[in-house]
Amino acid sequence: MAREHAAAFAPGRVNLIGEHTDYNGGPALPFSISHGITVRARASDDQRIAAKARDLGEQDRFALDDRSPAQGWRAFVRGVVAELAAAGMPLGGARLEIGGDLPRGAGLSSSAALEVALCLALIALHESGETSLDRLELARLCARVESDWVGARTGLLDQLASLCGERDTVLLIDFATLAIEPVPLRLGGWRLVVVDSGERHAHASSGYNERRRECERACALLGVRLLAEAGDEDVAHLPEPQRSRARHVIDESRRVAEAVEALRSDDLHTLGLLLDASHASLRDLYEVSTPAMERTVQALRGAGAAGARMIGGGFGGSALGLFAPGVEAPAGSLAVRPGPGAHVLAD
Ligand code: GLA
Repeated sequence: MAREHAAAFAPGRVNLIGEHTDYNGGPALPFSISHGITVRARASDDQRIAAKARDLGEQDRFALDDRSPAQGWRAFVRGVVAELAAAGMPLGGARLEIGGDLPRGAGLSSSAALEVALCLALIALHESGETSLDRLELARLCARVESDWVGARTGLLDQLASLCGERDTVLLIDFATLAIEPVPLRLGGWRLVVVDSGERHAHASSGYNERRRECERACALLGVRLLAEAGDEDVAHLPEPQRSRARHVIDESRRVAEAVEALRSDDLHTLGLLLDASHASLRDLYEVSTPAMERTVQALRGAGAAGARMIGGGFGGSALGLFAPGVEAPAGSLAVRPGPGAHVLAD
């Protein structure tokens, strides 16, 4: 039985550490932030979807069974509808209104927030009670939207962070098994901030897919399924650029484990050093930073950050800075802390 209306909120995410490890079967340590995307859905009886992106002042309208591709935000809406239908979810006509306070393309995972909010709102509209898709299935469905409808072969990091986030908690996600372990984030007087590099990115057109291909090539050369499984010795014999890419993945996986240790022992100084090391590796070995990002990270360090690094897929987006008590973050930075994961909103 369809309801008359439903709404859902899905947060963006910040990845504390563990970048480009997800599709390589390593660990990452993301959290959902309080900024996100809200989708309000109202049932209609015309077997059509009419969607409005409030901030952009743009609209889209298509028949429920229309599978033609689209560009920009429309690709996400069409992709979510198609993938939900393919997963056997009962769907009907709907008017959708998309809004929120998450900057687009700024590396805070606006894409995943949009997919997740659309999914939850449409499911809530058309299903009474709990959805038959669990959170992992939803994350996979959203990742299919990114790869098959938007053209970005992303991993599951952003979707799982948005769907499974918890207040005051970072998620230790092991992408080899997809086990998720909550780790308390006790910041005390410390602060985490993000600063937009001003450079917009789209994974479909950046070097993101190219990095994935390089990692796949490294796996083929090493005869492993996932790059995070490779041993130090084997990696040393790879040709470039595979050697540097693999080196990053293995070192970054180690840093995630060290960051969890640092959090458990309230050692935020060590966490800061790990953020710096992660950034250096993303810049020098994985080569996903840009001059604008370097300036942004330098500005955070210049302001006295205990650690700073680029976050997300790279080629633009935001940088994260960790500030000790009493040290002022630069003007224009946005304070972030773990907020609740995606949820259906009460009427
Ligand atoms: C993007 C992708 C994620 C992940 C990160 C890099 O955010 O969507 O799946 O690969 O880049 O860690």
